[in-house]
Amino acid sequence: MGKSTVSVNLAVGLAMAGAAVGLLDADIYGPNVPTLMGVDELPPPEGETMVPALAHGVKVMSMGFLVGREEALVWRGPMIHSALRQLLTEVVWGELDYLVVDLPPGTGDAQLSIAQLVPLSAGVVVTTPQLLSVSDSRRGITAFQKLNVPVLGIVENMSGDVFGSGGGERAAAEMGVPFLGRIPLDPRVSRMGDEGRPVVGIADTPGEPPFASRQAFRDLARSIAAALSVLQFQSSGGGR
Ligand SMILES: Nc1ncnc2c1ncn2[C@@H]1O[C@H](COP(=O)(O)OP(=O)(O)OP(=O)(O)O)[C@@H](O)[C@H]1O
Ligand SMILES: [Mg+2]
Repeated sequence: MGKSTVSVNLAVGLAMAGAAVGLLDADIYGPNVPTLMGVDELPPPEGETMVPALAHGVKVMSMGFLVGREEALVWRGPMIHSALRQLLTEVVWGELDYLVVDLPPGTGDAQLSIAQLVPLSAGVVVTTPQLLSVSDSRRGITAFQKLNVPVLGIVENMSGDVFGSGGGERAAAEMGVPFLGRIPLDPRVSRMGDEGRPVVGIADTPGEPPFASRQAFRDLARSIAAALSVLQFQSSGGGR
């Protein structure tokens, strides 16, 4: 749990570091990125082409801007595919350093479509420390591998006293993928998410405890950017 929260904070964290970042909410069944980013509509289109919303320095596009939730619930593969194609190709994204894609849960049509529509540089799997979630993360890794998408690694979200910690790291070791970091369970992550203010961008308030979760998201953005650079260097034939 926490894919959307991690996607949003990662995108904002990368933008805060100076990158040009797009965030595509590909969760056709439960698009929450607009809420998490605090945007509820798109700017007017440029002719036939949609313009992404700009929030927290990130260009945001979501299925939620296009159709009602109930409508998308009955969609089959081909409709999902054409909707996602529209979000990728009929939008003025401009030059981007990163496009963060928030995928729906599971390993279904949307995942397959996205992998067919864009050359994904890498996949990141988000897990919570509990066993059940960790076993889901194994499925997530296998799904990326089947789609020939390199797996950048696993993030453990909601670490701490309540759900424990270490599950993500163990799964990463077992599956032979990097462990990218852990985000503590913190009610502010959730409260500010509801308010459309990703914690990664929040300043410390004097007199209040420092934001461990904010720092964890900043560190995560840095680790992911670094891991992607290494991957791109390797896949361009560098280092051989
Ligand atoms: N580190 C955290 N600390 C506290 N609450 C969190 C944390 N990460 C996520 N949450 C909360 O957990 C809930 C689920 O998170 P989120 O929507 O990001 O998960 P998801 O994996 O995208 O879910 P879905 O499968 O529905 O798409 C949200 O209410 C969110 O605010
Ligand atoms: Mg989600």
